[in-house]
Amino acid sequence: MTPPLAEDHSLCKVLDSLIATDEPLITALSNAAALLYTTLENINWCGFYIFDGEKLVLGPFGGKPACTVIPMGKGVCGTAAQKREIISVADVDEFPGHIACDAASQSEIVLPIILSDGKLFGVLDVDAPVKNRFTDEDEGELAEVVSVLVGKLDAIITRSGNSWIS
Ligand code: SME
Repeated sequence: MTPPLAEDHSLCKVLDSLIATDEPLITALSNAAALLYTTLENINWCGFYIFDGEKLVLGPFGGKPACTVIPMGKGVCGTAAQKREIISVADVDEFPGHIACDAASQSEIVLPIILSDGKLFGVLDVDAPVKNRFTDEDEGELAEVVSVLVGKLDAIITRSGNSWIS
């Protein structure tokens, strides 16, 4: 389906219409990552890390190739996943244990993705090439994006189980 990007549509509305719940999980995440990467301004990386029951593994994203595995509790992603909290880092050099996948990244926001049954699905990670990129308003908008995404993932996973491609 062609992304229905229109200037009068909010990101959440576009995401909602872009992702169909009868499509595979990897398809939905790939288009969600592409939409966010091409829509959010002044960012250099945006994508998903998915919880495999033990650790976070790299999922669909936009940007330079990134670290493939992040242990729970490590880096900004592993910390947000373990604490199940949004973590916004104004200056990655000030975050102990920050994992530098792209040297250009200077600030970062990571949002946990918790399914409606309470299970951790993974995280959404957005990196920016400037410090202090993410405002409270951005955080709120991204939280809404994750909420729309959770609705889609719930439906896709209920239909297809844990399969990536059915
Ligand atoms: N900086 C992240 C690692 C992932 S990359 O930014 C894509 C972290 O510290 O968890």
